[in-house]
Amino acid sequence: MSITIDRDVELTKYNALRTECRAAHFARAYTAEQARAAVRYALDNSLSVLVLGQGTNVVLYDDWPGLVIRQRSSGWDTQSEDDEQVVLKVSAGENWHQFVHECLTRGFYGLENLALIPGTMGAAPIQNIGAYGTDFSQFVREVGYVDLSDGHQKSLSNEECQFSYRDSIFKKALKDRVLITDVTIELTKMKVFTLEYPALFDYFHDVEPTDIDPWAVFHAVVDIRSSKLPDPAVLPNVGSFFKNPTVNRETVEELLRVYADMPVYDYGVERFKLPAAWLIERCGWKGKLEDGIGMHELHALVLTNPGGRPGTEILEFARRVADSVYRKFDIALELEPAIYP
Ligand code: EPU
Repeated sequence: MSITIDRDVELTKYNALRTECRAAHFARAYTAEQARAAVRYALDNSLSVLVLGQGTNVVLYDDWPGLVIRQRSSGWDTQSEDDEQVVLKVSAGENWHQFVHECLTRGFYGLENLALIPGTMGAAPIQNIGAYGTDFSQFVREVGYVDLSDGHQKSLSNEECQFSYRDSIFKKALKDRVLITDVTIELTKMKVFTLEYPALFDYFHDVEPTDIDPWAVFHAVVDIRSSKLPDPAVLPNVGSFFKNPTVNRETVEELLRVYADMPVYDYGVERFKLPAAWLIERCGWKGKLEDGIGMHELHALVLTNPGGRPGTEILEFARRVADSVYRKFDIALELEPAIYP
């Protein structure tokens, strides 16, 4: 299988923050075979590999000296199907939102709460995308990948992926060591749905439960997201720029004594999640734009880059945001997107 390698390619249109960077070598992989050929080329030429889907969760702050492989594969195979469930093996380059829509059209349910998340299927397991009470890990059976150290095709089961909130083995032990080729997922044909997330629950507060189905949930999520999260195609952004911090009871109680209106969410045994958006807004960053970089006016957790500023300036701006949260609340925010090189 042949693969075309381009030289000195501009990456601005391949990353959602629209930072200006270049790749010394660049390949588009339309199939898993092409992806393996690209990895083989990198191994033969001792090039470091950066895999990009739609670049919707990365900050590129400098040129990439090795090979960028852009995942363009699409489609899926049905592995098994009965009256109640279906198992699909989905190509990594498949557009996430279009795939969610296609599943609903075919009567395969479960992904509706994850509608409108920008990006590709292959990126979904890396940060275990999650929204409105649903995590992608709930559906994953297996992740297929090419090992960047030897070019071999391998796979991991759900358990081996070590999924947790916005985290997986692909951000830890296997960080930058794999090229994900496909994800096998299990969906239900039962019209069940999840409404526990407060914003979603409120959306349906005056609707009869019998009038709600997975399509209604899909449309609600699209509505809620588009009302406050900017479209990266219009305003450069990568969604949430920080993770929501998790803290212990003592910290929550201490903070609530001073900030009685602070929202708190249960997160496992004696752990609590605080909305980073609330902490950032309380530090005065919501809607603030400085030298072309800002925190969005409708959602304080979304860093935007309308000025097309470089990644170094974006990271410096984010550091100032995190510093002020640390000074005010004594809470260290963690970056959510992946940073390269
Ligand atoms: N809030 C503010 N100010 C704001 C926005 C929100 O104070 O400007 C507070 C409100 O109290 C709100 C709470 O923060 O109730 C939570 O806000 P939201 O429901 O928008 O969720 P989030 O915690 O900010 C997370 C995910 C989003 C996901 C939503 C919905 C992370 C880092 N982010 O955001 O994911 O869409 O929940 O489930 O967990 C992404 O990862 O890019 C992303 C957008």
